[in-house]
Amino acid sequence: MNFADVPRIGQGTWQIEDDDRPAMIAALRAGFDAGLTHIDTAELYGGGYAEEVIAEALGDRRERLFLVSKVMPSNASRRGTVTACERSLRRLGTDRLDCYLLHWPGSEPLEDTLEAFEELRNAGKIRAYGVSNFGEDLLREAARIAGPGKIACNQVLYNLGERHIESKLLPACRALDIAVVGYSPFMDFKESPALRSVATELGATGRQVALAFLARNALQIPKASRVDHVRDNAGALHLRLTAEQTARIEEAYPSKVRRQLPTA
Ligand SMILES: NC(=O)c1ccc[n+]([C@@H]2O[C@H](COP(=O)([O-])OP(=O)(O)OC[C@H]3O[C@@H](n4cnc5c(N)ncnc54)[C@H](OP(=O)(O)O)[C@@H]3O)[C@@H](O)[C@H]2O)c1
Repeated sequence: MNFADVPRIGQGTWQIEDDDRPAMIAALRAGFDAGLTHIDTAELYGGGYAEEVIAEALGDRRERLFLVSKVMPSNASRRGTVTACERSLRRLGTDRLDCYLLHWPGSEPLEDTLEAFEELRNAGKIRAYGVSNFGEDLLREAARIAGPGKIACNQVLYNLGERHIESKLLPACRALDIAVVGYSPFMDFKESPALRSVATELGATGRQVALAFLARNALQIPKASRVDHVRDNAGALHLRLTAEQTARIEEAYPSKVRRQLPTA
């Protein structure tokens, strides 16, 4: 499986609290069963805790899932990337990742991280690799170093209040054939009258309409630790907006100037 075959809505795993573990496992499993098979995690999340929780949730479902993890920039040297990946594989209880990402640009030379990704791919420990939080210039540089078709995705902030990727980054990713994965779809989520009216027309919830709107441009990985939230999000998998409904939402949530955000 690659990003072209991945369902438009998946599941994020940042900020899983310790006392949430059983609820999070139940939520992840409900998501797998509802078709949210793209699972996003990172060595950063809880210092590996999220990967351990996913391992417990996987059971015998591993083959049906698209599992993505990330190396922290501070570990992204030639050797450090390989050992970080091996640690993630151990915590996840699997022998391979479907995609492995550099979490955000750091100070290790990009050449070294990309060479380590190639080594991991050749060893069968990862099926593909990509980046996260890369702007268009650095993404072009990564694509040049890695070679055509090698960078599978760029995972970036994208929600109704932060649509800046639409102007430059999205066209750049399309030109380079790099999948875009949007994170934090519900950050500062506010249900405008326009969103509410589209939701009513479609018999959907506001969050489902938001996900369907964002999923036109980027794969979605909302994080939910409650089963009812996961099922709500899964309801967006097959929701389609008309051009007129899309235009109303675009007008209600205009693109704003980019702001700097902490990375997760
Ligand atoms: N690459 C990066 O630098 C980066 C940065 C940030 C995030 N990410 C990834 O993107 C994922 C998603 O982003 P995020 O965790 O920042 O936030 P998010 O998905 O935008 O929002 C998560 C919050 O929304 C709530 N929620 C989810 N579905 C809901 C629903 N249907 N109804 C009501 N509330 C709902 C969750 O509540 P409950 O938990 O109570 O269900 C949680 O409080 C992360 O988990 C992570 O995997 C990547």
